[in-house]
Amino acid sequence: MQLNLSTWCEVKDYLKTQKDIIIPIGSMEQHGPMGFIGTDSICPEIVASGISKTQNVLIAPTIPVGMSQHHLAFPGSLTLRPTTMIAVIKDIILSLTGHGFTHLFFLNGHGGNVASIKTAFSEIYAEHSLSNKPSSVHLDLYNWYDGKRVEEIENKYFKDVNGSHATPSEISLSFYAHPDAVKKAELSPRVAPTNQFRDCFDFQNNFPDGRIGSDSSLASIAVGKELFEAAVQDALEIYKQFINNKP
Ligand code: NI
Repeated sequence: MQLNLSTWCEVKDYLKTQKDIIIPIGSMEQHGPMGFIGTDSICPEIVASGISKTQNVLIAPTIPVGMSQHHLAFPGSLTLRPTTMIAVIKDIILSLTGHGFTHLFFLNGHGGNVASIKTAFSEIYAEHSLSNKPSSVHLDLYNWYDGKRVEEIENKYFKDVNGSHATPSEISLSFYAHPDAVKKAELSPRVAPTNQFRDCFDFQNNFPDGRIGSDSSLASIAVGKELFEAAVQDALEIYKQFINNKP
């Protein structure tokens, strides 16, 4: 059940029996010469839609832009400042909890979002604590790529060259989601370097084509299909534990 395709009457009925919602959250940032700029939003979105086919749960619209300041030297990348992102997440949480939702599950596709999402959660909990108002709000964050089934597939096909950005894993899943938009590119070097980074200038110096440690050319729709099925199972397992953690 998709929130953006529901009426307020349907949401009101849903809340009579269920108070959980999944919120996909991603980024809009370069993913090397082969990966879509929307990779990190597309991946959690398709995993969430897979969950909704096996579980009666409301899916919120994907939050499409995240904290991607380090990618800004590449055209098309968008970012929210950490403070903006924290404010956006807080406002979405407060909108939903105001209607009676108690279990909000953020299904994330971008590592750079984690600190801001966790800070937003702490801000919400701090407001409850400091105003001395106990609350039944439960907030959880899960990265679609963190599960054991996904990890097994990554190790099987990409082992030491999955890297940490523009990975063949995330690109495969996004290709599976959008087969008509699949790209090819000559990658040089085939496996991208690894290093630390600070701002977007430093990032571009260290990673001239935008990839970190990955060989994106191994990406395929076929592996994307396997990753999709694995990621849905992994996320569903964590999600069920989360919603059963009632106050
Ligand atoms: Ni990514």
